[in-house]
Amino acid sequence: DIYGQQRANSRGPNIEIACEWVPFSEKVNQWLEHQWLGGPIINGQRIETGRVVAVNAPYDHRHHTGQIHFAEAAHVAEAVQVASDGFADWHTTPVGIRTQALMRLADLLEENLEELVAICHQEAGKTIQDGIDEVREAVDFCRYYALQANDLFSAPLTRTLADGNTHQLIRDGRGVFVCISPWNFPLAIFLGQVTAALAAGNTVVAKPAEQTSLIACRAVEMMLEAGIPGSAIQLLPGTGAQVGGPLTADARIAGVAFTGSTETARLINRTLAARDCAPVPLIAETGGQNAMIIDSTSLPEQVVQDAVQSAFASAGQRCSALRVLCVQKDIADRVIDLLKGAMAEQKTGNPCLHSTDVGPVIDKGAQQNLLQYIEQMRSTSTLLAQTPLHADAEQGTFVPPTAFEIDSLERLGREQFGPILHLVRYDARDLDKVIDQINNGGYGLTLGIHTRNEGTAAHIESRARVGNTYINRNQVGATVGVQPFGGQGLSGTGPKAGGPHYLLRFTQLQPASSQS
Ligand code: NAD
Ligand code: ALA
Repeated sequence: DIYGQQRANSRGPNIEIACEWVPFSEKVNQWLEHQWLGGPIINGQRIETGRVVAVNAPYDHRHHTGQIHFAEAAHVAEAVQVASDGFADWHTTPVGIRTQALMRLADLLEENLEELVAICHQEAGKTIQDGIDEVREAVDFCRYYALQANDLFSAPLTRTLADGNTHQLIRDGRGVFVCISPWNFPLAIFLGQVTAALAAGNTVVAKPAEQTSLIACRAVEMMLEAGIPGSAIQLLPGTGAQVGGPLTADARIAGVAFTGSTETARLINRTLAARDCAPVPLIAETGGQNAMIIDSTSLPEQVVQDAVQSAFASAGQRCSALRVLCVQKDIADRVIDLLKGAMAEQKTGNPCLHSTDVGPVIDKGAQQNLLQYIEQMRSTSTLLAQTPLHADAEQGTFVPPTAFEIDSLERLGREQFGPILHLVRYDARDLDKVIDQINNGGYGLTLGIHTRNEGTAAHIESRARVGNTYINRNQVGATVGVQPFGGQGLSGTGPKAGGPHYLLRFTQLQPASSQS
C-alpha cells in the first residue's frame, strides 16, 4: 500500500517533530489534573446556582474535568437587564477603546494557550493539534474583528451632495445581542460571535453549548481581565430549553447570532417570530451535508489524503466535514483501495497522545446515534472500511471512522455529525446531475473538487450552490480573514464569519448629522 508506506515514513523517524511537541504537551499535561469550576457570569460576578452539573472527559468518563453551575430562569431575566442597562455606555465607548480590549484578550488567550488546550481536550475531547487550532482561531477572530471595527466604525459615512449639503451616517450597535454557540468549536465560535457583537457596539448575553461551558466561562473571565466591562458581557451556561428558549423569547433583545444545527435554527426562528414586539435579525450558521467531487484526471493519492482529513479529522465533528465522496467511475476502484489503506492506519483513542488521529465524539447521545446509523447502514449499503477502535468505547465515547458505498446521492438524509463517510460512483456524462442532486439536498456549506482540468473545476464551482469551495485540497479549517466561512440554504443565513461583511450584520445605520 503506497499510501500507507508514505505515511509511515513521514511519521516514525521524525525526531525534530517529536522534540518540538514533547515540551508543549508536558505543559498541557500539567493542567490535566486541574478541575475547573464555572457558572453564570452576570455584571462581572460568577454566580453559584442550585443546578450543578459534573463535567467528565469524553475520552474517559472516570476523569473528572470540573463542575458547571447552570443558569436558572431568574438569571436569564437579570442578565438581559444588565446587558440592556450596559448598552448606553458600551455603544458610546470609542471604537478604539473597545477594540483595544479585544486585542488584549487575544494576547491573554495566547498567554494561556496550554490551559485552554487542556480544557478543549478534557471538556470537548479535542486532540492537542485541534486544541491548538481552536485557540489560534479564537485569537484570529479577536484581532480580525478588532481591526475590521477600527476600519469600519471609526469615522462616519459622509456624503456631500451637489447642493453642498453634507449627510453623515454612523454604524452603531443594535442593543443586546444574544450569542448561542455549539460545542464543536467551544472557544473559537463562542468568541467569534461574542467579539463581533461587542466590536460592533452591542452588549452581549452569551449562551454556550451545555457540553462545553467551562471553556466559555474561562474565556469570559479573560474578557473581563482584558478590560471589557462586566455590564457588556453576560454568560449564561445551561440547556437550550432552559436558557436558550427564554433568552430568545425575551422582548428586550435586539438580535441573535446562532451557530448550531439547522433544526435548532428553525426553533429559534419560530421563537423570535412568536414574540409580540419588534422583529430582530437572526444570523444562523448551521449544518452541512458536504460533498467532494472527484473526476478521473485527479490524483488518487492526493484525493484520499484530503478526503480522510476532511471526513475524519476532529472525529468528523465539523460542520465543514466531508460527508459524501462522489467519484467518477473510472477511478473509483483505485480510490476505494487507497481509502481502505488510509483508514486502516488511522488511530482512534486518547486525544492527548500525539499518535491519535481521531478522538472521541462529544457525548453518549452522539455516540449512540452514530453507532445506530452505522448499524442501519450496514444492512442497506456496502461497508467499504472501518478503522479498528484503539480505545474502549464503554469508557469513552468513541465511534470508529466508517465508510459506506451508497448507490445514489438521494439516499443521504440529514447530517450525521461524526466520522462517517459515504461514497457514490458517477458516470462522467452525469456530472451536472450530481451537482444538481447536491444542490437539491438543500444544504450548501462546503464543497471539495478534485480535478486537473481547470474548466471542470470552474464549471462545478459555478453550478454548485455552496458557501465555500476548495479545489485540490481538503475542505476543512477555513482561515479567518482569508476564507470567510458560511453557507446558504439549510446551511445558514450568512454573512460569513471571518469575512469583511460579518460585523455589518451586527449594526444599524444611524443618522449622525446633516449640514448645509
Ligand atoms: P445544537 O443546535 O444542538 O445546539 C447549538 C446551541 O443551541 C447550543 O448552545 C444549544 O444549547 C442551543 N439550543 C438548543 N435548543 C435551543 C433552543 N430551543 N433555543 C435556543 N438555543 C437552543 O448544535 P450542536 O449539537 O451544539 O452543534 C452541532 C451542529 O452545529 C451541527 O449541525 C454543525 O453542523 C453545526 N455547526 C455549524 C457551523 C457553521 O459555521 N455553519 C459551525 C459549527 C457547528
Ligand atoms: N470554520 C470551520 C472549518 O472550516 C468550521 O472547518
